[in-house]
Amino acid sequence: MNIAEIKEEVLESLKNIKSLPELENFRISYLSKKGKVSLLMQELKTFSNEEKKKYGKEINDIKLFIEDEFKKCFNFLNEKFIEEKLKTEAIDVTIPVKNYSIGHIHPCTKVYNEVKFIFKNMGYEVITGPEIEYDEYNFEKLNIEKGHPARDEQDTFYINENIVLRTQTSPVQARVMEKGKLPIKMISAGRVFRSDAVDATHSPTFHQIEGLVVDKNITFSDLKGVLDSFAKAFFGENVKTRFRPHHFPFTEPSAEMDVSCFKCKGKGCRFCKNEGWIEILGCGMVNPKVYELCGLDKENHQGFAFGIGIERLALLKYEIDDMRLLYENDVRFLNQF
Ligand code: DAH
Repeated sequence: MNIAEIKEEVLESLKNIKSLPELENFRISYLSKKGKVSLLMQELKTFSNEEKKKYGKEINDIKLFIEDEFKKCFNFLNEKFIEEKLKTEAIDVTIPVKNYSIGHIHPCTKVYNEVKFIFKNMGYEVITGPEIEYDEYNFEKLNIEKGHPARDEQDTFYINENIVLRTQTSPVQARVMEKGKLPIKMISAGRVFRSDAVDATHSPTFHQIEGLVVDKNITFSDLKGVLDSFAKAFFGENVKTRFRPHHFPFTEPSAEMDVSCFKCKGKGCRFCKNEGWIEILGCGMVNPKVYELCGLDKENHQGFAFGIGIERLALLKYEIDDMRLLYENDVRFLNQF
């Protein structure tokens, strides 16, 4: 047994150790029960008493030497390990909190929420309908038969001969009437589609709000009263309304409703194209033919319907000149509302 050699070997292996797990392997090979020091101790048993005394002391010295070197190495590596851990896991409590930007409600959604609020307060139910619709509901049951010019006006995306992307929210009227549960007092909002080219006032997809009331003894003055109240609630108490005759196949008589220009109070300005009035919706008394087509008795039911363009209201209310801005979702634009 050469003590100097063993010590040198120990120092050499400790020099190459760079981590605590490596050091643990070293400990196992030298200082554990089956390690090199234990083996030396066992060898000692075979020696004579004289030799035992001599080598016993030497082995003990080696053991103490290895334990000592091990401890030094351990302290060094452990300190490095803790330092590293502190560096990587440090929490700097002085860093200011991240400023998360929160999105907000799109102007069209704001308009819809407002309109919904106004009609709900008048006791209207909110109903939804499908965006992919049967030709039968989108046109046929609304008294727009095949070949009717109103179909051309609503240049349509056909999925097949019988299925279309709805061109208006009016088919929800037919779906509700068909159920036959009366009285009906509902609004229904959603997306509609038309094969229109994009420009400042057109988009192939936009949004409408449909309204329908069906009961007994409903008259045109009910229609006027409800829509006038709506216009005042939405645009302001001082707004006046007027009804101009119009044509829709599913209402008879039909009208378009204008509001007095809320910018110039009716005097005429750029906003109302100098007319003093701005058109905001279509409406009319439900055509008796539609009752028939939807399975209701036309003699005993009266009611009215209306259709409002959500984008149109948003453009008017927020004084936006170009509809395309509503769809670009540029936050610099949207943040203003
Ligand atoms: N559906 C019509 C359109 O898209 C709007 C409309 C007009 C709806 C009159 C109605 C109504 O319910 O009575 O042009």
